[in-house]
Amino acid sequence: MEDRTNVLVIGSGISGMSCAVRCASFGLDVTLVSPFISERSQSVMAAGGINAVVEGNDEGDTVASHIEDTLKGGGYLAKEEEVRALCERGGEIIEYLKSIGTVFSVNEDGRPAKRAFGGQSHKRTYYCGTSTGKQIVSALVMEVRRYEAAGRIKRRLMSCFHSGLIVDGVCHGALLFDETTRGLTAVYADAVVMATGGQNALFGKTTGSTQCDGYAEGQLFRQGVVLKNLEFIQYHPTTLETAQKRMLISEAARGEGGRLFYVENGHRVYFMEEKYGEKGNLMTRDLISREMYLTKKDVWLDVSFLGEELIRKRIPEVMELCLKYRGIDITKEPIPVAPSVHFFMGGFAVGLHHETNIRNLFAVGECASIYHGANRLGGNSLLAAVCSAFTAAEEIAGRRDNAVHPDFSKYRDEQSDILEKKGKTESRFPVNYIRDLLAETMQNDLGIVRDEKSLGNGIKDVDYYLETADLIKYDNSVMPYFNYSLVGILTLARAVLTSALSRRESRGAHFRSDHPETDRDFAHATLISYDNGAYRTRLEDKGEV
Ligand code: FUM
Repeated sequence: MEDRTNVLVIGSGISGMSCAVRCASFGLDVTLVSPFISERSQSVMAAGGINAVVEGNDEGDTVASHIEDTLKGGGYLAKEEEVRALCERGGEIIEYLKSIGTVFSVNEDGRPAKRAFGGQSHKRTYYCGTSTGKQIVSALVMEVRRYEAAGRIKRRLMSCFHSGLIVDGVCHGALLFDETTRGLTAVYADAVVMATGGQNALFGKTTGSTQCDGYAEGQLFRQGVVLKNLEFIQYHPTTLETAQKRMLISEAARGEGGRLFYVENGHRVYFMEEKYGEKGNLMTRDLISREMYLTKKDVWLDVSFLGEELIRKRIPEVMELCLKYRGIDITKEPIPVAPSVHFFMGGFAVGLHHETNIRNLFAVGECASIYHGANRLGGNSLLAAVCSAFTAAEEIAGRRDNAVHPDFSKYRDEQSDILEKKGKTESRFPVNYIRDLLAETMQNDLGIVRDEKSLGNGIKDVDYYLETADLIKYDNSVMPYFNYSLVGILTLARAVLTSALSRRESRGAHFRSDHPETDRDFAHATLISYDNGAYRTRLEDKGEV
């Protein structure tokens, strides 16, 4: 089976939908692919808000200071011209989101409300309570439906990315695995946009969805796509342990005044305030997580003194989830919090137009590495999701490649045979067993603080899992996707560890106890490529590490 479209968008969270809608608005035919409905995407978990400087509601804030905060918060690793491209679109994006029906919280005077977020010099985070992502997803779903009804967007649900159709440095589409027919389809496209989110499944329990497993990044990396800054993994300081995952206690709780403390000799120690002054609880996430780690103590977040009325109004979802998952009434008692993996600054290396090193292959949203440098500011990811999607769509719409697509039916048949043969054998190792081992390795060896030894151990372990994965028989009790995605996921994990080992300094979210200083020689992004089983790192604009 095969299919054709102008634009193939893989992933239907906020960045995928924004890109699909923008392309459709330019008259392009779009195929929007995802295993799940958008309402179950990771984007619905985005809580605290979206950063923007909006003319007329700026209260002394400027785009220049948004740029400076973003660069500084990211350890000066991102390029100014790229960060400028992000921050300059803030106002336009808020207006767009309002225009499609996103309901933002407002002040008493009716103006859109803003809250303080970490590492920012001004209040510039627009929000909808603490369910900002959910509100934006709802509005975008309606836009997608509108274009679907007009025949411009075609949705392929229960459809998973398998591999790129790439030849001679040009992408011609993708092979998709359909969970309903259990078959592979080649979809030819003038442009392919990856909007596959983060790499959460590599780490098991995180604040995010294990649907975001980085497989597409790992697979395309094996097919020649360059990845960037993989070592920068954001640990969110305030998460709540539950049986299934780490629940995010939104930074909004601290933005509204929440205070972190530990207990010593029966007394509360507000350690962040003691060390960093009144803005201590709103320092950047990398720094707070590290301080929490270094205390080696249990840490709590107290918001009770804000009062029930304010809590219900501004952070209702935080209140709800603490009660629902742990029976904690935050109007009366503090929340036990600990840092946990939350966001990936690394991903596909893209240029200003969000194109990868492969022509006509784009990446948007969290899977694209461009704006956040070594650490992302809270509230910048939703902005980046929409901004990157619009930027890619505008570039794609302006192109007239008139590409002639080579025939990939032989490749599709070969891949189908592989899936079929493997599917007929019995499993010796459950795939999920290897995934669990991988998560343990990544959590242990790629934590808030790492060193050469831990990273070396991690690499050894993942190499062993990769050897095992080559021998593994497919497990027929799980979805085929879980089987064929394993090697890509492990390859990505190996690339993350290799990148972390190559950066012999500390910067942003990457803290090496054996290289605790920031080193000017490393003030460049890490690029990594795959060459016949070899993982090659280099520093951008510099060369071999
Ligand atoms: O804490 C939060 O609400 C997370 C926001 C973000 O990651 O941007």
